[in-house]
Amino acid sequence: MNEAIRPGQGTAVATPELSVVVPTFNERDNVTALFRKLETALAGRAWEVIYVDDNSPDGTWDVVRALAQQDSRVRCIRRIGRRGLSGACIEGILASSAPCAAVIDADLQHDETQLPKMLALLQSGEAELVVGSRYVEGGSADSFDRQRAGFSWLATSVAKKLLRVEIADPMSGFFMIRRDRFEQLAPQLSTQGFKILLDIVATARGSLRIREIPYSFGARLHGESKLDSMVALDFLGLVLAKLTGDVVSLRFLLFAMVGSLGLFVHLAALFIALEVFNVPFPEAQACGAVMAMTSNFLLNNFLTYRDQRLKGLGILRGLLLFYLVCSVGLVANVGVAFSVYDQEPIWWLAGAAGALMGVVWNYAMSGLFVWRKR
Ligand code: GDD
Ligand code: MN
Repeated sequence: MNEAIRPGQGTAVATPELSVVVPTFNERDNVTALFRKLETALAGRAWEVIYVDDNSPDGTWDVVRALAQQDSRVRCIRRIGRRGLSGACIEGILASSAPCAAVIDADLQHDETQLPKMLALLQSGEAELVVGSRYVEGGSADSFDRQRAGFSWLATSVAKKLLRVEIADPMSGFFMIRRDRFEQLAPQLSTQGFKILLDIVATARGSLRIREIPYSFGARLHGESKLDSMVALDFLGLVLAKLTGDVVSLRFLLFAMVGSLGLFVHLAALFIALEVFNVPFPEAQACGAVMAMTSNFLLNNFLTYRDQRLKGLGILRGLLLFYLVCSVGLVANVGVAFSVYDQEPIWWLAGAAGALMGVVWNYAMSGLFVWRKR
């Protein structure tokens, strides 16, 4: 048996050999049922469960807290002002103390009866990461509709090809990992998005011993899925970030993408103002700039910062701050372009340098002032 991951001995209360981490958002009706199922599945084991709740409006954290008051194996992390499945899982695992940590969804779609088998594989040293897989012999995802099954297949193929991830189901949300191995990888993981397992496997670059075991992805007990159509963007962002060796963050990519779209908005507005409304050029140009900034702000609020989306009056305040940030960014843009052109009169080089300066400035300042963490 592997020394490092044996359960602790000689203490008054058995220290857990397994920490189960459960990310939750609006799962108030599921958390107790899951706890009972864990009790049955892990009978005779020393384990703990850590629910990581992003301040669910339905008060999931309240239900978990009540459970924890009855049973010290239950813990609750209530995160305020943050959203995200990956970030919640990372925080939960880092808050655990057992040598092995599992991640499982709260809605009973994953098969908790596989946990002892997964634990045995880690404890015997046969694997460092065990993945509950829908796409190996014996596993299934029958509860998926055709559209979801198609997306899942596409994402899996892309991940395998581009990131050289070898496992059959890198999109699974059900896995168990040695905590020491996780802790080595944690600083390089993205806290944004859904695909924590893919991130772990891609970041480890083949250095993890992985085993996959089949399970059937079931139907949700109560409530509804939080995966929206935007997770496709999250996924692409993660793939690109990993391909560039994390030089470019997911958020920055989205921000820059929105920025490039802004150029089209600007040109379209300029054209319409000039050609349709016969506005003089300076006014038309200003109108294009305001249109571009406004649409960039709205798109960023909707996509880039959707986990920190501004609402109500906050939108107006954010928009005004965004205008301010972008105006200074424009000055920086033109300044850099001029000085590059001064040294080396190559128009596209100077233009690109200025644009890069502008987007980096806008990104940094927007994160600081417009969508700042609360
Ligand atoms: N803390 C926190 N914050 N938890 C979240 C958040 C969030 O922003 N979003 C979702 N969760 C929790 C849910 O409450 C649930 O317990 C779990 O994460 C999975 O979310 P679902 O909304 O049920 O996702 P799904 O069923 O559509 O997809 C799941 O299964 C897929 C296949 O295994 C996820 O685990 C996917 O990652 C996975 O690919
Ligand atoms: Mn689910």
